[in-house]
Amino acid sequence: MTNRTFTIIKPNAVGQQHTGEILTIIEKAGFRILALKMVCLSRSDVEKFYHIHKERPFFRTLSLFMTAGPIVVAVLEKENAVADFRALIGATDPVKAAEHTIRKYFAESKTRNAIHASDSDENAAWEASFFFSDKEIIETRYQLPIPAEEIDKD
Ligand code: CMP
Repeated sequence: MTNRTFTIIKPNAVGQQHTGEILTIIEKAGFRILALKMVCLSRSDVEKFYHIHKERPFFRTLSLFMTAGPIVVAVLEKENAVADFRALIGATDPVKAAEHTIRKYFAESKTRNAIHASDSDENAAWEASFFFSDKEIIETRYQLPIPAEEIDKD
């Protein structure tokens, strides 16, 4: 059965123009993009989105970093999406990230770690709803209503 996860391509990766490359890695790994947009977070957005980390010592730098530039947020679908996507991005600390993971390629530190992934189905649903309405998460698949030769004949 397919399920969904949620991701953020973080300000350092977007600012360094790695968005396309990261989306290519994600699609090539078999994830289908159901929703996608670029946004900027306010300090208050960061406090809400990362509320579980609010009392942690790293929250101040996390907040300064996440408001430092645009981010790209997306909802992704695949079988075993949450666990497979966490494997694809690698460990929070890039020093510990496995070879060929997104963080191994693009993360610069524990804070400037290029990408976020949900850690459970429940959090994926909540995080997706933080950025997208139900109507913005598109399940519809590409399917021509008439044969391809007819589409191409004019
Ligand atoms: P993310 O997956 O977005 O979830 C919380 C973020 O806090 C994490 O990635 C890191 O970027 C950031 N962070 C900074 N320092 C730490 C730390 N010591 N432990 C965990 N997360 C940290």
